[in-house]
Amino acid sequence: MSNWQKSDWRKKPRVQMPDYTDPAALNAVEAKLSNYPPLVFAGEARRLKAQLGAASRGEAFLLQGGDCAESFEQFSADAIRDTFKVMLQMAMVLTYGAKVPVIKVGRMAGQFAKPRSAPTEVVNGQELPSYRGDIINQLEFTPEARIPDPANMLQAYTQAAATLNLIRAFSTGGYADVHQVHAWTLGFTESEKAERYREMAARITDTLDFMSAAGVTGDAAHTLQTVDFYTSHESLLLEYEEALTRLDSTSGKWLAGSGHMIWIGDRTRQPDGAHVEFARGVQNPIGLKCGPSTTADDLKVLMSRLNPENEAGRLTLIARFGAGNVGEHLPRLVKAVQEEGANVVWVCDPMHGNTIKSDSGYKTRPFERVLREVQDFFDVHRAEGTIPGGVHFEMTGQDVTECTGGMRAVTDENLSLRYHTACDPRLNASQSLELAFLVAEELSDLRMATEAAKAG
Ligand code: PEP
Ligand code: CO
Repeated sequence: MSNWQKSDWRKKPRVQMPDYTDPAALNAVEAKLSNYPPLVFAGEARRLKAQLGAASRGEAFLLQGGDCAESFEQFSADAIRDTFKVMLQMAMVLTYGAKVPVIKVGRMAGQFAKPRSAPTEVVNGQELPSYRGDIINQLEFTPEARIPDPANMLQAYTQAAATLNLIRAFSTGGYADVHQVHAWTLGFTESEKAERYREMAARITDTLDFMSAAGVTGDAAHTLQTVDFYTSHESLLLEYEEALTRLDSTSGKWLAGSGHMIWIGDRTRQPDGAHVEFARGVQNPIGLKCGPSTTADDLKVLMSRLNPENEAGRLTLIARFGAGNVGEHLPRLVKAVQEEGANVVWVCDPMHGNTIKSDSGYKTRPFERVLREVQDFFDVHRAEGTIPGGVHFEMTGQDVTECTGGMRAVTDENLSLRYHTACDPRLNASQSLELAFLVAEELSDLRMATEAAKAG
């Protein structure tokens, strides 16, 4: 690794990246970004890595969530606050189920670049290059808007810095908003499931009331008032990533300064490609999306390339197969990991394998399929005796109508009401919480089964 250079990816085949038309403008942006302060610091990335190491052993659980694509237009303090708040609420519910710390990682402050399944799109007979995220081009369907503009990287950096600034402020502001847990289930319709979730919420509220009545002080109270919150995004636009990469003087290792954790997408995980080459050289925790086409051999090569020292917490495998397909694909990858004796965190992304076109023409995800993929994921790990280490969601704290279903049901006809995503459909606040309750139940069942097995 000592010979690795942050520009080495340029010698490798690249996919899903724009061809900028003005090299001078691109170079000027890269030069500027290279002088800007990094957004995150090495000590933070190392702390996250240690916590993910705990998740690989079942001693912590990862909650990763946020927008599919952050957008320049929808950037606001309220949107950041709402997503942050819902993630803290979800984390509270998950902690109750898992009885281990929940690691909170936003798809935030850098999640701007998007891989696409087709290079162009056709609307009303007109064909234009695909939208690739605000850091690259614009969503608007005109030829000018779709030209990649390197200056967008500067705006993305600025927005990421402002987002992180707010998150860092919220992180010391405490759990003030997350004490009235029972109120979170108010929107759930009457059903057996809702009843179970209400009971869980009531027990969490009781516990929090008890702690505050008992005058919990010192370290314990401090823990409830501050929160570790990390950022992550897909490391797709490598000019941006390289420009923010810095040598960390403490460890002598490189750090991607664009976010705490970066991941490699399902479309850019070629073992000899540019994206793997970049990620392998930085010390950040790395995520790797695993889809239906990931073979056991691919995974073995990628693990040895991305985590040659088998460091716990370095590599998170994010499984995204689609509801009903997990049983076909996950076991071979779980076995590959076991054969290598590799340390990984297994995470479930129940979003990207479950995108469909609704009858009304919107790209959506049926909530019951999202739920089912999470359940499938837990079932496979139960059967294989391995550890489900976390979940990865596209979600927002706002009351959008992008995914159908849920206890406060969004119907196909509702989709047009508040469909705001710049890319894939996100869970709204209510759907996100419902999912957290489901995962908490799975985690609690698992914990009880493990304890029963131990007791003999
Ligand atoms: C994403 O996480 O937004 C994404 C594009 O995922 P995947 O690479 O798994 O398709
Ligand atoms: Co997405």
